[in-house]
Amino acid sequence: MLRVLALSLTLLLSGQEVVAEDVLPRVQSRDGSVLLVSGICPQNRKTRKAPGRYLKKKNPVPPTPKNLAEGKRLFNKDAKPTACKLCHGAKGNGNGSLARRLDPPPRNFTCAEVMSDLPDGQLFWVIQNGSRGTAMPAHKSTLKPEEIWQLILFIKQFLIV
Ligand code: HEC
Repeated sequence: MLRVLALSLTLLLSGQEVVAEDVLPRVQSRDGSVLLVSGICPQNRKTRKAPGRYLKKKNPVPPTPKNLAEGKRLFNKDAKPTACKLCHGAKGNGNGSLARRLDPPPRNFTCAEVMSDLPDGQLFWVIQNGSRGTAMPAHKSTLKPEEIWQLILFIKQFLIV
């Protein structure tokens, strides 16, 4: 743990861009703000609001270990056209390997300031239909509704509270 902290500190002090996110922990500083290693928080958000009928949706899939494991598998590896991890990052902080070229950047799921205002139905709508004007792809033809709900269970675990 100490070694990892020392590494993050060295990276921060040397002004180097933090890209090696797999070796970096999610860190919350004492005053409650989230350190650079966890991605930008709060982010500006380009995505529009989902239609009302989506916003009312509740997640019908229970957070069992099996459903969370399915969400993780899709996020890290199997979601088509592109695994979510490559944009949103293995730690969900928005710093995936494709993220640096994207404007707006992928959502940082660790950021409570942004994420806690977004109902599950909003997340469902965006994952299913994509977000126009951003790189966020639609998954209507590649993910079943049940799989989208499993992904939502999984990405909500990234939240730092
Ligand atoms: C090619 C890069 C890319 C991939 C792949 C990708 N996303 Fe995104 N995602 C984005 C971008 C860019 C945004 C929009 C950020 C904004 O609104 O400013 C976004 C936004 C989101 C949001 C936030 C919606 C909101 O209302 O703010 C969710 C949830 C999300 N993505 C989930 C996923 C999931 C789950 C996957 C995999 C199935 C995935 N994304 C794959 C780039 C990506």
